[in-house]
Amino acid sequence: MGTTLKNDLLLRAAKGEQVERPPVWLMRQAGRILPEYRAVRDSLKDFIELVKTPERAAEVTIQPVDILGVDAAIIFSDILVIPEAMGLPYEMVEKRGPFFPKTIEKEEDIKKLKVADAVSDLAYVAEAIRITKRELAGRVPLIGFAGAPFTIFTYMVEGSGSKTFSKARRMMYQAPHLAHALLQKITDSTINYLKEQIKAGADLIQLFDSWAGILTPEHYQEFSIPYIAQICEAIDEVPKTVFAKGAFFARKQLSQTRCDVIGLDWTMSPQESRQIIGQNKTLQGNLDPCVLYGSYEVIRKETQAMLASFGGQRHIANLGHGVYPDTDPEKVRCFIETVKEWQN
Ligand code: CP3
Repeated sequence: MGTTLKNDLLLRAAKGEQVERPPVWLMRQAGRILPEYRAVRDSLKDFIELVKTPERAAEVTIQPVDILGVDAAIIFSDILVIPEAMGLPYEMVEKRGPFFPKTIEKEEDIKKLKVADAVSDLAYVAEAIRITKRELAGRVPLIGFAGAPFTIFTYMVEGSGSKTFSKARRMMYQAPHLAHALLQKITDSTINYLKEQIKAGADLIQLFDSWAGILTPEHYQEFSIPYIAQICEAIDEVPKTVFAKGAFFARKQLSQTRCDVIGLDWTMSPQESRQIIGQNKTLQGNLDPCVLYGSYEVIRKETQAMLASFGGQRHIANLGHGVYPDTDPEKVRCFIETVKEWQN
Protein backbone atom coordinates (compact mmCIF):
# COMPACT_ATOMS: atom_id res chain seq x y z
CA MET A 1 0.00 0.00 0.00
CA GLY A 2 1.14 3.50 -0.64
CA THR A 3 3.31 2.33 -3.55
CA THR A 4 2.69 4.34 -6.70
CA LEU A 5 1.67 2.23 -9.65
CA LYS A 6 4.11 1.88 -12.53
CA ASN A 7 1.28 0.82 -14.83
CA ASP A 8 -1.97 2.60 -14.01
CA LEU A 9 -3.68 2.21 -17.42
CA LEU A 10 -6.58 0.27 -15.90
CA LEU A 11 -7.35 2.94 -13.32
CA ARG A 12 -7.03 5.80 -15.78
CA ALA A 13 -9.30 4.06 -18.28
CA ALA A 14 -11.83 3.26 -15.52
CA LYS A 15 -11.96 6.91 -14.48
CA GLY A 16 -12.34 8.09 -18.07
CA GLU A 17 -8.88 9.67 -18.33
CA GLN A 18 -6.86 9.66 -21.58
CA VAL A 19 -4.77 6.52 -22.18
CA GLU A 20 -2.00 5.69 -24.68
CA ARG A 21 -3.78 2.39 -25.41
CA PRO A 22 -6.57 0.38 -23.77
CA PRO A 23 -5.48 -1.73 -20.77
CA VAL A 24 -6.00 -5.48 -21.11
CA TRP A 25 -6.74 -8.32 -18.67
CA LEU A 26 -8.91 -11.46 -18.80
CA MET A 27 -11.76 -12.51 -16.59
CA ARG A 28 -10.74 -15.79 -14.88
CA GLN A 29 -7.10 -15.30 -15.86
CA ALA A 30 -5.84 -16.67 -12.53
CA GLY A 31 -6.15 -20.43 -12.53
CA ARG A 32 -7.93 -22.46 -15.15
CA ILE A 33 -5.52 -22.13 -18.09
CA LEU A 34 -1.99 -22.10 -16.70
CA PRO A 35 0.00 -25.30 -15.99
CA GLU A 36 1.83 -23.22 -13.36
CA TYR A 37 -1.52 -22.82 -11.56
CA ARG A 38 -2.21 -26.57 -11.74
CA ALA A 39 1.14 -27.25 -10.12
CA VAL A 40 0.32 -25.04 -7.12
CA ARG A 41 -3.23 -26.36 -6.91
CA ASP A 42 -2.08 -30.01 -6.99
CA SER A 43 0.36 -29.39 -4.15
CA LEU A 44 -2.61 -28.60 -1.86
CA LYS A 45 -5.65 -30.61 -0.79
CA ASP A 46 -8.16 -28.85 -3.02
CA PHE A 47 -9.40 -25.58 -4.48
CA ILE A 48 -10.89 -24.32 -1.20
CA GLU A 49 -7.62 -24.89 0.63
CA LEU A 50 -5.84 -22.83 -2.04
CA VAL A 51 -8.36 -20.00 -1.60
CA LYS A 52 -7.72 -20.08 2.16
CA THR A 53 -3.91 -20.17 1.99
CA PRO A 54 -3.00 -16.50 1.43
CA GLU A 55 0.65 -17.02 0.33
CA ARG A 56 -0.37 -19.50 -2.37
CA ALA A 57 -3.44 -17.50 -3.42
CA ALA A 58 -1.13 -14.49 -3.87
CA GLU A 59 1.26 -16.61 -5.91
CA VAL A 60 -1.40 -17.73 -8.42
CA THR A 61 -2.80 -14.18 -8.56
CA ILE A 62 0.56 -12.91 -9.80
CA GLN A 63 1.22 -15.73 -12.30
CA PRO A 64 -0.76 -14.14 -15.19
CA VAL A 65 1.11 -10.85 -14.69
CA ASP A 66 4.48 -12.63 -15.02
CA ILE A 67 3.51 -15.20 -17.64
CA LEU A 68 0.93 -13.44 -19.80
CA GLY A 69 1.79 -9.75 -19.35
CA VAL A 70 -1.68 -8.49 -18.41
CA ASP A 71 -2.21 -4.91 -17.20
CA ALA A 72 -3.99 -5.97 -13.98
CA ALA A 73 -4.07 -8.81 -11.47
CA ILE A 74 -7.36 -10.12 -10.01
CA ILE A 75 -7.21 -11.63 -6.55
CA PHE A 76 -7.52 -15.41 -6.55
CA SER A 77 -10.64 -16.36 -4.64
CA ASP A 78 -14.24 -17.26 -5.49
CA ILE A 79 -17.59 -15.49 -5.35
CA LEU A 80 -18.86 -18.30 -3.09
CA VAL A 81 -16.79 -17.26 -0.06
CA ILE A 82 -19.71 -14.93 0.80
CA PRO A 83 -22.38 -17.61 1.35
CA GLU A 84 -19.82 -19.53 3.40
CA ALA A 85 -19.11 -16.50 5.58
CA MET A 86 -22.88 -16.09 6.06
CA GLY A 87 -23.17 -19.68 7.35
CA LEU A 88 -23.82 -21.65 4.16
CA PRO A 89 -20.62 -23.56 3.27
CA TYR A 90 -19.86 -24.82 -0.24
CA GLU A 91 -17.86 -27.65 -1.73
CA MET A 92 -16.06 -27.60 -5.07
CA VAL A 93 -16.64 -30.86 -6.92
CA GLU A 94 -13.85 -31.61 -9.39
CA LYS A 95 -14.99 -31.10 -13.02
CA ARG A 96 -18.57 -30.38 -11.90
CA GLY A 97 -18.39 -27.09 -10.00
CA PRO A 98 -19.79 -25.75 -6.74
CA PHE A 99 -22.19 -27.66 -4.50
CA PHE A 100 -24.00 -26.51 -1.32
CA PRO A 101 -25.01 -29.35 1.03
CA LYS A 102 -27.64 -27.04 2.59
CA THR A 103 -29.74 -24.53 0.63
CA ILE A 104 -32.16 -21.70 1.45
CA GLU A 105 -35.85 -22.57 1.15
CA LYS A 106 -37.80 -20.80 3.88
CA GLU A 107 -37.85 -17.86 6.25
CA GLU A 108 -36.11 -19.69 9.13
CA ASP A 109 -33.22 -20.54 6.80
CA ILE A 110 -32.69 -16.84 6.08
CA LYS A 111 -33.03 -15.90 9.77
CA LYS A 112 -30.26 -18.35 10.65
CA LEU A 113 -27.82 -16.70 8.24
CA LYS A 114 -25.62 -13.95 9.53
CA VAL A 115 -24.36 -10.83 7.83
CA ALA A 116 -20.74 -11.71 7.07
CA ASP A 117 -18.21 -9.97 9.27
CA ALA A 118 -15.38 -9.56 6.78
CA VAL A 119 -12.76 -8.87 9.45
CA SER A 120 -13.21 -12.22 11.17
CA ASP A 121 -14.86 -14.46 8.56
CA LEU A 122 -12.92 -13.41 5.46
CA ALA A 123 -9.56 -12.43 6.93
CA TYR A 124 -7.81 -14.87 4.58
CA VAL A 125 -8.86 -12.83 1.52
CA ALA A 126 -7.61 -9.55 3.00
CA GLU A 127 -4.33 -11.26 3.88
CA ALA A 128 -3.98 -12.61 0.30
CA ILE A 129 -4.55 -9.07 -0.99
CA ARG A 130 -1.91 -7.60 1.33
CA ILE A 131 0.66 -10.19 0.27
CA THR A 132 -0.18 -9.74 -3.42
CA LYS A 133 0.15 -5.95 -3.19
CA ARG A 134 3.52 -6.29 -1.50
CA GLU A 135 4.80 -8.76 -4.10
CA LEU A 136 3.42 -6.82 -7.07
CA ALA A 137 5.27 -3.76 -5.76
CA GLY A 138 3.22 -1.45 -7.97
CA ARG A 139 3.77 -3.28 -11.26
CA VAL A 140 0.02 -3.34 -12.07
CA PRO A 141 -3.21 -2.59 -10.16
CA LEU A 142 -4.99 -5.35 -8.21
CA ILE A 143 -8.69 -6.01 -8.82
CA GLY A 144 -10.88 -7.14 -5.92
CA PHE A 145 -14.25 -8.75 -6.61
CA ALA A 146 -17.49 -10.24 -5.37
CA GLY A 147 -20.54 -11.84 -6.91
CA ALA A 148 -23.48 -9.51 -7.45
CA PRO A 149 -26.18 -10.27 -4.85
CA PHE A 150 -28.55 -11.85 -7.39
CA THR A 151 -25.92 -14.34 -8.62
CA ILE A 152 -24.99 -15.29 -5.03
CA PHE A 153 -28.72 -15.70 -4.29
CA THR A 154 -29.08 -18.21 -7.14
CA TYR A 155 -26.34 -20.44 -5.68
CA MET A 156 -27.76 -20.23 -2.14
CA VAL A 157 -31.26 -21.21 -3.27
CA GLU A 158 -30.35 -23.62 -6.06
CA GLY A 159 -27.37 -25.28 -4.33
CA SER A 160 -25.33 -25.61 -7.53
CA GLY A 161 -25.20 -24.43 -11.11
CA SER A 162 -28.32 -25.15 -13.17
CA LYS A 163 -29.64 -24.95 -16.72
CA THR A 164 -32.87 -23.22 -15.70
CA PHE A 165 -32.30 -21.86 -12.17
CA SER A 166 -35.98 -22.59 -11.69
CA LYS A 167 -35.76 -22.92 -7.88
CA ALA A 168 -34.23 -19.46 -7.63
CA ARG A 169 -36.70 -17.94 -10.08
CA ARG A 170 -39.61 -19.74 -8.42
CA MET A 171 -38.94 -17.97 -5.13
CA MET A 172 -39.30 -14.62 -6.89
CA TYR A 173 -42.89 -15.48 -7.81
CA GLN A 174 -43.91 -17.54 -4.75
CA ALA A 175 -42.26 -15.52 -1.99
CA PRO A 176 -40.78 -12.27 -3.27
CA HIS A 177 -40.44 -10.88 0.28
CA LEU A 178 -38.17 -13.82 1.18
CA ALA A 179 -36.08 -13.24 -1.92
CA HIS A 180 -35.66 -9.59 -0.94
CA ALA A 181 -34.77 -10.47 2.66
CA LEU A 182 -32.04 -12.82 1.45
CA LEU A 183 -30.76 -10.37 -1.18
CA GLN A 184 -30.48 -7.64 1.47
CA LYS A 185 -28.44 -9.88 3.79
CA ILE A 186 -26.14 -10.79 0.91
CA THR A 187 -25.79 -7.11 -0.03
CA ASP A 188 -24.86 -6.07 3.53
CA SER A 189 -22.29 -8.89 3.65
CA THR A 190 -20.86 -7.92 0.27
CA ILE A 191 -20.43 -4.27 1.24
CA ASN A 192 -18.51 -5.30 4.38
CA TYR A 193 -16.41 -7.65 2.30
CA LEU A 194 -15.53 -5.18 -0.47
CA LYS A 195 -14.64 -2.50 2.09
CA GLU A 196 -12.16 -4.94 3.65
CA GLN A 197 -10.69 -5.76 0.25
CA ILE A 198 -10.18 -2.05 -0.41
CA LYS A 199 -8.60 -1.48 3.03
CA ALA A 200 -6.22 -4.36 2.27
CA GLY A 201 -5.20 -2.73 -1.01
CA ALA A 202 -7.62 -3.57 -3.87
CA ASP A 203 -7.35 -0.78 -6.47
CA LEU A 204 -10.64 -1.42 -8.28
CA ILE A 205 -13.52 -3.78 -7.59
CA GLN A 206 -15.70 -5.82 -9.94
CA LEU A 207 -19.14 -7.30 -9.33
CA PHE A 208 -19.84 -10.47 -11.31
CA ASP A 209 -23.56 -10.89 -12.09
CA SER A 210 -22.93 -14.10 -14.01
CA TRP A 211 -26.56 -15.29 -14.14
CA ALA A 212 -28.17 -11.90 -14.86
CA GLY A 213 -29.34 -13.17 -18.25
CA ILE A 214 -31.86 -15.66 -16.82
CA LEU A 215 -34.21 -13.01 -15.42
CA THR A 216 -37.00 -11.12 -17.13
CA PRO A 217 -36.10 -7.44 -17.55
CA GLU A 218 -38.74 -6.62 -14.91
CA HIS A 219 -37.30 -9.08 -12.41
CA TYR A 220 -33.78 -7.85 -13.09
CA GLN A 221 -34.97 -4.34 -12.33
CA GLU A 222 -36.63 -5.51 -9.09
CA PHE A 223 -34.22 -8.17 -7.79
CA SER A 224 -30.77 -7.22 -9.04
CA ILE A 225 -30.39 -3.54 -9.94
CA PRO A 226 -31.36 -2.09 -6.50
CA TYR A 227 -28.75 -4.22 -4.71
CA ILE A 228 -26.01 -3.43 -7.23
CA ALA A 229 -26.95 0.25 -6.84
CA GLN A 230 -26.66 -0.01 -3.03
CA ILE A 231 -23.17 -1.49 -3.32
CA CYS A 232 -22.06 1.17 -5.81
CA GLU A 233 -23.33 3.87 -3.46
CA ALA A 234 -21.62 2.37 -0.42
CA ILE A 235 -18.22 2.03 -2.13
CA ASP A 236 -16.67 5.38 -2.90
CA GLU A 237 -12.98 4.69 -2.42
CA VAL A 238 -12.08 3.00 -5.73
CA PRO A 239 -13.56 2.58 -9.23
CA LYS A 240 -16.28 -0.05 -9.60
CA THR A 241 -17.05 -2.38 -12.52
CA VAL A 242 -20.35 -4.21 -12.96
CA PHE A 243 -20.44 -7.17 -15.34
CA ALA A 244 -24.00 -8.45 -15.83
CA LYS A 245 -23.66 -11.35 -18.24
CA GLY A 246 -26.53 -11.66 -20.67
CA ALA A 247 -28.38 -8.60 -19.35
CA PHE A 248 -28.44 -6.67 -22.63
CA PHE A 249 -31.85 -5.35 -21.53
CA ALA A 250 -30.39 -3.75 -18.39
CA ARG A 251 -27.64 -1.61 -19.92
CA LYS A 252 -29.63 1.60 -19.45
CA GLN A 253 -30.47 0.87 -15.81
CA LEU A 254 -26.84 -0.08 -15.11
CA SER A 255 -25.74 3.23 -16.60
CA GLN A 256 -27.87 4.97 -13.98
CA THR A 257 -26.03 3.37 -11.05
CA ARG A 258 -22.84 4.89 -9.63
CA CYS A 259 -20.53 2.33 -11.22
CA ASP A 260 -17.57 3.51 -13.31
CA VAL A 261 -17.24 0.60 -15.73
CA ILE A 262 -19.84 -1.63 -17.39
CA GLY A 263 -18.76 -5.05 -18.66
CA LEU A 264 -20.19 -6.27 -21.96
CA ASP A 265 -20.47 -9.85 -23.18
CA TRP A 266 -19.91 -10.71 -26.85
CA THR A 267 -23.60 -10.52 -27.76
CA MET A 268 -23.68 -6.78 -27.02
CA SER A 269 -22.43 -4.51 -29.77
CA PRO A 270 -19.89 -1.92 -28.55
CA GLN A 271 -21.40 0.90 -30.60
CA GLU A 272 -25.00 0.17 -29.68
CA SER A 273 -23.95 -0.22 -26.02
CA ARG A 274 -22.22 3.18 -26.11
CA GLN A 275 -25.41 4.77 -27.44
CA ILE A 276 -27.54 3.17 -24.73
CA ILE A 277 -25.08 3.79 -21.89
CA GLY A 278 -23.91 7.28 -22.89
CA GLN A 279 -20.45 8.85 -22.55
CA ASN A 280 -20.00 8.75 -18.77
CA LYS A 281 -19.01 5.12 -18.26
CA THR A 282 -16.02 3.09 -19.37
CA LEU A 283 -16.90 -0.14 -21.21
CA GLN A 284 -15.10 -3.45 -20.65
CA GLY A 285 -14.96 -6.48 -22.95
CA ASN A 286 -16.02 -8.10 -25.14
CA LEU A 287 -14.22 -10.59 -27.40
CA ASP A 288 -15.98 -13.95 -27.74
CA PRO A 289 -13.77 -16.32 -25.68
CA CYS A 290 -14.05 -18.81 -28.58
CA VAL A 291 -11.99 -16.47 -30.78
CA LEU A 292 -9.02 -17.83 -28.80
CA TYR A 293 -9.59 -21.26 -30.39
CA GLY A 294 -8.94 -19.64 -33.79
CA SER A 295 -5.59 -19.29 -35.59
CA TYR A 296 -3.18 -16.50 -34.58
CA GLU A 297 -4.32 -14.64 -37.67
CA VAL A 298 -7.99 -14.90 -36.69
CA ILE A 299 -7.18 -13.78 -33.13
CA ARG A 300 -5.32 -10.68 -34.38
CA LYS A 301 -8.04 -9.76 -36.85
CA GLU A 302 -10.93 -10.19 -34.40
CA THR A 303 -9.11 -8.40 -31.59
CA GLN A 304 -8.26 -5.43 -33.81
CA ALA A 305 -11.87 -5.21 -35.01
CA MET A 306 -13.08 -5.28 -31.40
CA LEU A 307 -10.62 -2.54 -30.37
CA ALA A 308 -11.63 -0.37 -33.31
CA SER A 309 -15.32 -0.64 -32.53
CA PHE A 310 -14.71 0.60 -28.96
CA GLY A 311 -12.58 3.44 -30.33
CA GLY A 312 -9.54 3.34 -28.02
CA GLN A 313 -10.68 5.52 -25.09
CA ARG A 314 -13.00 4.67 -22.18
CA HIS A 315 -12.36 1.01 -22.96
CA ILE A 316 -10.79 -1.86 -21.00
CA ALA A 317 -9.99 -4.73 -23.36
CA ASN A 318 -11.15 -8.13 -22.11
CA LEU A 319 -13.12 -11.17 -23.20
CA GLY A 320 -16.92 -11.18 -23.08
CA HIS A 321 -16.79 -13.76 -20.24
CA GLY A 322 -14.12 -15.78 -18.44
CA VAL A 323 -11.42 -17.48 -20.50
CA TYR A 324 -12.37 -21.12 -21.17
CA PRO A 325 -10.28 -23.72 -19.28
CA ASP A 326 -8.90 -25.51 -22.38
CA THR A 327 -7.56 -22.35 -24.04
CA ASP A 328 -3.89 -22.42 -25.12
CA PRO A 329 -1.95 -19.81 -23.06
CA GLU A 330 -0.01 -18.90 -26.24
CA LYS A 331 -3.29 -17.84 -27.86
CA VAL A 332 -4.10 -15.75 -24.80
CA ARG A 333 -0.69 -14.13 -25.13
CA CYS A 334 -1.44 -13.34 -28.78
CA PHE A 335 -4.65 -11.55 -27.73
CA ILE A 336 -2.76 -9.53 -25.11
CA GLU A 337 0.09 -8.63 -27.49
CA THR A 338 -2.39 -7.53 -30.16
CA VAL A 339 -3.98 -5.07 -27.73
CA LYS A 340 -0.59 -3.76 -26.62
CA GLU A 341 0.56 -3.15 -30.21
CA TRP A 342 -2.71 -1.65 -31.42
CA GLN A 343 -2.75 1.92 -32.65
CA ASN A 344 -5.95 3.76 -33.22
O1 CP3 B 1 -10.61 -14.34 -12.27
C1 CP3 B 1 -9.79 -15.06 -11.68
O2 CP3 B 1 -8.97 -15.72 -12.30
C2 CP3 B 1 -9.78 -15.04 -10.17
C3 CP3 B 1 -10.41 -16.14 -9.56
C4 CP3 B 1 -11.89 -16.45 -9.72
C5 CP3 B 1 -12.37 -17.77 -9.51
N1 CP3 B 1 -13.73 -17.73 -9.54
C6 CP3 B 1 -11.52 -18.94 -9.26
C7 CP3 B 1 -12.03 -20.28 -9.59
C8 CP3 B 1 -13.00 -15.63 -9.97
C9 CP3 B 1 -13.07 -14.16 -10.31
C10 CP3 B 1 -14.16 -16.45 -9.84
C11 CP3 B 1 -15.54 -15.93 -9.97
C12 CP3 B 1 -16.64 -16.88 -10.09
N2 CP3 B 1 -16.82 -18.07 -9.45
C13 CP3 B 1 -17.80 -16.63 -10.88
C14 CP3 B 1 -18.06 -15.36 -11.65
C15 CP3 B 1 -17.33 -15.33 -12.95
C16 CP3 B 1 -17.95 -16.14 -14.05
O3 CP3 B 1 -17.22 -17.00 -14.60
O4 CP3 B 1 -19.09 -15.88 -14.42
C17 CP3 B 1 -18.65 -17.74 -10.72
C18 CP3 B 1 -20.00 -17.95 -11.39
C19 CP3 B 1 -18.01 -18.65 -9.79
C20 CP3 B 1 -18.53 -19.94 -9.28
C21 CP3 B 1 -17.65 -21.06 -9.68
N3 CP3 B 1 -16.39 -21.31 -9.15
C22 CP3 B 1 -17.91 -22.06 -10.65
C23 CP3 B 1 -19.16 -22.17 -11.49
C24 CP3 B 1 -16.80 -22.94 -10.68
C25 CP3 B 1 -16.59 -24.22 -11.46
C26 CP3 B 1 -16.28 -24.01 -12.87
C27 CP3 B 1 -15.00 -23.21 -13.16
O5 CP3 B 1 -13.95 -23.81 -13.33
O6 CP3 B 1 -15.09 -22.01 -13.20
C28 CP3 B 1 -15.85 -22.41 -9.77
C29 CP3 B 1 -14.51 -22.97 -9.49
C30 CP3 B 1 -13.34 -22.09 -9.69
N4 CP3 B 1 -13.26 -20.80 -9.25
C31 CP3 B 1 -12.11 -22.46 -10.30
C32 CP3 B 1 -11.28 -21.33 -10.24
C33 CP3 B 1 -9.87 -21.23 -10.70
C34 CP3 B 1 -11.79 -23.85 -10.87
C35 CP3 B 1 -11.62 -24.82 -9.76
C36 CP3 B 1 -10.26 -25.48 -9.66
O7 CP3 B 1 -9.19 -24.86 -9.84
O8 CP3 B 1 -10.28 -26.64 -9.30
